[in-house]
Amino acid sequence: MCGIVGYVGPRPSQDILLAGLARLEYRGYDSAGVAVIDDAGSLGMRKKAGKLSVLRDSLAESALPDGSTGIGHTRWATHGGPTDVNAHPHLADDDKLAVIHNGIIENFSALRAELIAEGVTFRSETDTEVAAALLGREYANNGGDLQRAFRDVVNRLEGAFTLLAMHQDQPGLVVGARRNSPLVIGLGEGENFLGSDVAAFVEHTRKALAIGQDQIVAITPDAVTVTDFAGTPVEAEPFDVSWDAAAAEKGGWSSFMAKEVAEQPEAVANTIRGRIKDGQVVIPELDGLDDLFIGINRVIITACGTASYAALVGKYAIEQWARVAVDVELAHEFRYRDPVIGEDTLVVSISQSGETMDTLMAVKYARERGARTLSVCNTQGATIPRESDAVVYTHAGPEVAVASTKAFSAQITALLLLGLHMGRVRGTVTDASADVAELLELPEKIAKVLSSEQAHVEQLAHWMSDTRSVLFLGRHVGFPIALEGALKLKEISYIHAEGFAAGELKHGPIALIEAGQPVFVLVPSPRHSALIHSKVVSNIQEIRARGARVIVVAEEGDAAVLPFADEVIHIPLAGAMFEPLLAVVPLQIFAMALATAKGLDVDQPRNLAKSVTVE
Ligand code: F6R
Repeated sequence: MCGIVGYVGPRPSQDILLAGLARLEYRGYDSAGVAVIDDAGSLGMRKKAGKLSVLRDSLAESALPDGSTGIGHTRWATHGGPTDVNAHPHLADDDKLAVIHNGIIENFSALRAELIAEGVTFRSETDTEVAAALLGREYANNGGDLQRAFRDVVNRLEGAFTLLAMHQDQPGLVVGARRNSPLVIGLGEGENFLGSDVAAFVEHTRKALAIGQDQIVAITPDAVTVTDFAGTPVEAEPFDVSWDAAAAEKGGWSSFMAKEVAEQPEAVANTIRGRIKDGQVVIPELDGLDDLFIGINRVIITACGTASYAALVGKYAIEQWARVAVDVELAHEFRYRDPVIGEDTLVVSISQSGETMDTLMAVKYARERGARTLSVCNTQGATIPRESDAVVYTHAGPEVAVASTKAFSAQITALLLLGLHMGRVRGTVTDASADVAELLELPEKIAKVLSSEQAHVEQLAHWMSDTRSVLFLGRHVGFPIALEGALKLKEISYIHAEGFAAGELKHGPIALIEAGQPVFVLVPSPRHSALIHSKVVSNIQEIRARGARVIVVAEEGDAAVLPFADEVIHIPLAGAMFEPLLAVVPLQIFAMALATAKGLDVDQPRNLAKSVTVE
């Protein structure tokens, strides 16, 4: 939520900032703004409500003097609506000082009152302008020492924040700080960058430094210094970005979502790569960490949204292979009750961004309670893995579209790997050869679903573009996929959709079925369990009898469903735990095609942001 970029170096900064913001726009697109210290030493600023294109148009219409020190921001509104005046940057000290912010400053009301009592007037409704005004005051109190003033300010702020600031009297210097909100440093040659994530600067450098919690950074063209909030120097952790700028480009696709759906075979293959050894799953990052898995009596997987549906698939896999009880908890619910956890609990968090505040707080809470923690994450240098005892990275590459697709597939893949790894360590899996073979076949099978069913599903979506409601049913590992199918449709096509456990239908939801109601049913293979399969076929008959239009996702050759289905989408044969990775693909395509048919922006759906860094 909110994208932040900062630059100091020899080049004019505006294009660098705008390109960085374009790559960060998935984090919020309510407004965008830049501030630049021009070559004459004056600070200029432009900010506009709406998407980045509005700011670009404004700059094209009347230029802002350029210079080589700048900061930029793309906003997901929290305090104050998405207006020009509430957009960032916010200025102070007679407009010589500019501040941008991501997060929520919880004590902003008290600080605002304090500043108003001193005669400060505010232009916006934002918490950020309070931080800017406070910095203006402390800048004067510290004799114009931006770094000391900035330190004083961040020590007074409560809540979650990434803050960047610069002052026109100190060109060539951008300061930043983070608490529970992301910030990474990009190291260039004679230039340096700050960003909410590496996408902000990856086209200029793939050398990065991760900054820890409650740390402050100052960048100049030739130096980077990192301290804690007390001013004591600390070492930032270097890492190389494993993907290049091209990976985060649309590259001829109609949308990032279309590209990311198509990239799923590769995302799954990359997540498996290097983790199979002698026919067993061996995750190198977990080398020497067997203790995480021995002596536990319970696993809790915590996540939000799509990641929580991946977690539900993980529950089935870990229980089956590692023979330990697994609960899945929405992070925001887990954190605010009094869960029974302790040293014998392993809390696994799942997060594409690694920055979701609800999930981060759940991880911190689990650690405080003495639980062992492991994260499954797609983003290097992110906060959640840094706060966990261990991390298993998914290698889906950058996911730009707000609706998660390839990251979801990579998360399920990582959880399957984790289940088999844990099973080996715990002695409950002695021969993984059949499952390993299934894993290795997945990329090809996903590619097959894409090539054989894409046009068919798009046609279906086209026919159904006036539909007002769609239901999704699944059993066993098909249930989380039903939930995911419904979420994808809701978030990008704004159609009412719900996912149900197929067995739950008769306990209430069947009342929703009326003539013509479209229902997707995920049918598990009869080869895995004739019983579960027959139950799902019965569920289909029940809804068909009430007039539902049934669209079945079933394995090739499943003749039992044919008499009862209006449409059949085929997926290749796969083991029970592996089917979700195939069954989800047509549902993603359906949501995308239906949103496209309605003329909607599938990459940037209304009201949403990709990285939810507020609770
Ligand atoms: C839906 C979607 C969200 C995220 C959720 C968690 O398409 O993307 O539901 O899955 O906000 O995000 P991460 O995985 O970054 O923690």
